[in-house]
Amino acid sequence: MIAIENLTKFYGPRRAINNLSFTIDKGEVVGFLGPNGAGKSTTMNILACIIPASSGTARVCGFDVFEQSLEIRKIIGYLPETPPLYQDMVVEDYLKFAAAIRRVASRNIPGALDRVIDACRLKDVRKRIIGKLSKGFQQRVGLAQALVHNPDILILDEPTIGLDPIQIIEIRKLIKELAQSHTIILSSHILPEITQICKRVIIINEGEIAAVDSLEGLTTSLHKSERILLKVRKTLDEIPSQLKSLEGVLSVHSQEDGGFLIECDHNTGLQDRVARLSLDRDWGLVELKPLAMTLEDIFLKLTLEEKGVEV
Ligand SMILES: Nc1ncnc2c1ncn2[C@@H]1O[C@H](COP(=O)(O)OP(=O)(O)O)[C@@H](O)[C@H]1O
Ligand SMILES: [Mg+2]
Repeated sequence: MIAIENLTKFYGPRRAINNLSFTIDKGEVVGFLGPNGAGKSTTMNILACIIPASSGTARVCGFDVFEQSLEIRKIIGYLPETPPLYQDMVVEDYLKFAAAIRRVASRNIPGALDRVIDACRLKDVRKRIIGKLSKGFQQRVGLAQALVHNPDILILDEPTIGLDPIQIIEIRKLIKELAQSHTIILSSHILPEITQICKRVIIINEGEIAAVDSLEGLTTSLHKSERILLKVRKTLDEIPSQLKSLEGVLSVHSQEDGGFLIECDHNTGLQDRVARLSLDRDWGLVELKPLAMTLEDIFLKLTLEEKGVEV
């Protein structure tokens, strides 16, 4: 449904994306993950026909983004990083306007409005001025404008950025609902966001693809090793050496706060044995928990391992 081939974009002398290629099938919900400046918005802007690429091609349902942008605009709904909202407009007037510029036939506009107001739960604020709404509601209005012409594909650029935790949960829930009937590309620099919503992830770093994989595949390949954090009350010299002697432990690092970071082979069920050891030795167990890979770890692994740096 979406096919990107050797896509490159220069802003003046600066290369924002370099030779990107990937495809997305109908109905997929794909996460576009990368740190700030990775080239996520640039790629999305090209797909949404907002800016042209410097070279390479991007096709949506067989239409070329450069040659047939009008066709693509009909089938794509786009929520840019900064939602294109008119702060002084009333919600429903703005959505009417968004429908009109998306060429929704006038007789269909009332129905389209009801549909998106319902889908994005905007009923209570439909007569309110956009600028007076909370950021969470403004983001929902942004989503509603992306949906107003009933597109098959949704491109959402960091849709939860700048929202408070409750608003984030609400927007994620909305996106999950939309995922049932749309093809979605969702960008984020937050890993858990992608893991909650998407089935497949494209990791982009410095304008290049660092990995494309299913979520399970990526997690398994990254989790050849695991990390466990142990905190105990007592400070004893024997602790690191005792921990190191457990089977499957690769390394033990003492933390500044007195905790121990234990790196171990995957699937060795080490947590039970660490707990038993600390109880048997009477270290005063305070905390024992697995540490999830952070996005930073993943980037370090993916980007540095490639360059042959030991992480
Ligand atoms: N309009 C622009 N003019 C010049 N450089 C830009 C412009 N937009 C983005 N860039 C640069 O291109 C790179 C990729 O940016 P962007 O696509 O916004 O990344 P992301 O969305 O992943 O944070 C960055 O280095 C950014 O500074
Ligand atoms: Mg961006």
